[in-house]
Amino acid sequence: MENGETLKQQRIAVIGAGVMGCALIKGMLAAGRITRDNVWAVVATSNSQKRIAEELGIRVYRDLPVDEIAQTDTFLICTKPYRVVQVLDQLKASKALKPSGLVVSIAAGTTIKQIETALPNYAVIRAMPNTPSLIRAGVTVLAAGSHSQDDHMLVAQEIFQSVGKVWQLDERHLDAVTAVSGSGPAYIYLILESLADGAVKVGLPRDIAFQLVSQTMLGAAMMVQDTGKHPATLKDEVTTPAGCTISALLTMEDGRIRSTLARAVEEATRTAAGLGNA
Ligand SMILES: NC(=O)c1ccc[n+]([C@@H]2O[C@H](COP(=O)([O-])OP(=O)(O)OC[C@H]3O[C@@H](n4cnc5c(N)ncnc54)[C@H](OP(=O)(O)O)[C@@H]3O)[C@@H](O)[C@H]2O)c1
Repeated sequence: MENGETLKQQRIAVIGAGVMGCALIKGMLAAGRITRDNVWAVVATSNSQKRIAEELGIRVYRDLPVDEIAQTDTFLICTKPYRVVQVLDQLKASKALKPSGLVVSIAAGTTIKQIETALPNYAVIRAMPNTPSLIRAGVTVLAAGSHSQDDHMLVAQEIFQSVGKVWQLDERHLDAVTAVSGSGPAYIYLILESLADGAVKVGLPRDIAFQLVSQTMLGAAMMVQDTGKHPATLKDEVTTPAGCTISALLTMEDGRIRSTLARAVEEATRTAAGLGNA
């Protein structure tokens, strides 16, 4: 089968079509990897049900419909973490699940063990995407459960490739991944805003500051990816002796910027580990 074709054979349910669930549906539709007939969604409120059905042109329910469950190959669980076990219990209670089906959960902190306990012997994949998935520039890391086979992983890869780049790691890394790429966009926004504040302080209009800083961040990130050079090497290459870059860098070091950012990731990892029990 051609790369990207596995998903076309699948019927997909998105349980919890909120910010992330809708981003995934839109991404899969835009990438041509699913058709509107082959995807359905569940939300909690009638407002969301009406809005999403109109916006995406798919079937949206407020309860889990047994006839749909019976025909579904892959369930994407995109509710808040504290709702996941309740949703899995409802799926099991329907007695309609295909034995060969797959559950993919994006809930932060909810472990594969928690999911496999609710659905014994079912194929499970845990995924950690991030919000740039909304513009198909996301990062997703996948971790396989104990009953997940290669073809299940292929399905999950194709889902998340439709909204960005995908890596596969052992589940023990997922709290760290949550802290790095899951929460990461927020750290970058804060850094972007701080640099723009500096630009405003030295006289640039704020809208220009945001454009210059965000494009500089994009360019610097692409330099790391395209050259494969260590960031420290790239930093040294733009640091002229007695120049302004080294003045800025030493000022940042005085503020302990490295350990502050690194410790922030460590703290977020600790918090991520507790989310599934909240
Ligand atoms: N946002 C991120 O950056 C990010 C990144 C990675 C992973 N995640 C994970 O993604 C998950 C969803 O986050 P989100 O930001 O997309 O949340 P969200 O926008 O609040 O979406 C949650 C959705 O779940 C629906 N829902 C609530 N109770 C339900 C139930 N019992 N059955 C079915 N659907 C139900 C809600 O319906 P209504 O609209 O009707 O209320 C809503 O559509 C979380 O577990 C989070 O940990 C989020």
